[in-house]
Amino acid sequence: MILIILHTLMEQRRSFIKDLLQSTDVDRDINAKGWVRTKRGNKQVAFVALNDGSTINNIQIVIDIANFDEDQIKNITTGASISVNGTLVKSMGKGQSVEIQAKEIKIYGTADPETYPLQKKGHTLEFLREIAHLRFRTNTFGAIFRIRHAMSFAVHKYFNDRNFYYLHTPIVTGSDAEGAGEMFRVSTLDMKNPPKTEDGEIDFSEDFFGKETNLTVSGQLEAELGATALSNVYTFGPTFRAENSNTPRHLAEFWMIEPEMAFYDIDDDMDLAEDFLKYLIKYALENCKDDLEFLNKMYDNELIERLNSVVENKFERITYTEAIDVLLKADQKFEFPIKWGSDLQSEHERYLVEKYYKKPVMVSDYPKIIKAFYMKQNDDGKTVRALDVLFPRIGEIIGGSQREEVYEKLLDRIKEMGIPEKDMWWYLETRKFGTVPHSGFGLGFERLILFVTGMSNIRDVIPFPRTPKNAEF
Ligand code: 4AD
Ligand code: MG
Repeated sequence: MILIILHTLMEQRRSFIKDLLQSTDVDRDINAKGWVRTKRGNKQVAFVALNDGSTINNIQIVIDIANFDEDQIKNITTGASISVNGTLVKSMGKGQSVEIQAKEIKIYGTADPETYPLQKKGHTLEFLREIAHLRFRTNTFGAIFRIRHAMSFAVHKYFNDRNFYYLHTPIVTGSDAEGAGEMFRVSTLDMKNPPKTEDGEIDFSEDFFGKETNLTVSGQLEAELGATALSNVYTFGPTFRAENSNTPRHLAEFWMIEPEMAFYDIDDDMDLAEDFLKYLIKYALENCKDDLEFLNKMYDNELIERLNSVVENKFERITYTEAIDVLLKADQKFEFPIKWGSDLQSEHERYLVEKYYKKPVMVSDYPKIIKAFYMKQNDDGKTVRALDVLFPRIGEIIGGSQREEVYEKLLDRIKEMGIPEKDMWWYLETRKFGTVPHSGFGLGFERLILFVTGMSNIRDVIPFPRTPKNAEF
């Protein structure tokens, strides 16, 4: 008795549409909340497709118009936010197994059909980028950001299950050691009137941190410090590069996952990179089915097939020198001519992956002149134990290496490359005390999401892209 009274006094708890659509427990009272996608019908009955972001699928609300106020029905238009009390029933119609027979509807917010930009018709991805504050409400971006979430969860699960610790490396850094690209300065100095030294240079000793600081381009160097005590660590955070690269694969602010492992050589590093990528893609195939099927249908008919083929096939492993041989014999002209010593351009990477090997390719042992100072030098004196993983449609998805663990060799390289030794004392000390062979890599998170969703522009897989001349929202 008490239970029954309590039940009628309480407002029905909100159910997520994802759970309602899977439910076989029908003819019960439920509450759903969400945003109206469409409304159709006639004078007697209205059918509303409601979405709450929990799934790509909408639930159908059946409204018997005689039981509702006319004005209220009029305000239920595309984009309006509503709460529905009703009965979950087996659906008579096609396309859904259950629907909601509405008893009570509350409108939270209307959306004027004259001005709401997301009417039923399809919009271009370019247009949706201009309304990134609303694009979450489309099927496409709902799918992309649910997948992005699933991938970030899977990253943590993968490492947590394998004795890796999540290490938070700093966003503001005082070292420019990576040399990965131009940096964004962090400063509180008065730009109009900065303090000057006697030589007329800007006096950064007066700045907030008492020295020049920038936004990080990579958490690797700090991750190495963690790995030389915790064995296996990873960072997963935002990184910043002020390169003027206006391409579909570059962002000025992107997220990177960087594992760093003590007692790993380059082969162990490759094994981990391959296993990690396959795990993530398999996770998406198993956990993001509806969203992937939608993207497969709407944008890229080969998406799911491509994801499966990456999971099922062993990646090709070649050296840079072997890659150059293949490229020199290619039956295709490249915009950038290739020779030993030059860096691989996107067109070369895609030739190797898409035309020649037809699967992901791991390229190792690059010329040391085109790679960072910290990479382990091979005995040939020319190459370093670098590793790039190249993917179909993406090109480079991972960059990594075995690290130089010999103090003298690392110091020589730092001097050779003109890196200020005084900035690197802490990094060098890990090689002075209990040094170990170690390796790591960086996976560009948005490049992974590009691959998994089949989208073609990196601006469409991060909620609010930062690119040259663009930092809206
Ligand atoms: O090859 P990168 O520059 O390597 C590093 O930063 C190393 N410190 C990683 C490590 O060994 N721990 O960058 C790694 C990956 C690239 O392979 C690419 O996927 C992604 O980061 N990336 C970008 N993604 C989006 N926009 C950009 N501007 C990117 N630059 C690199
Ligand atoms: Mg790289």
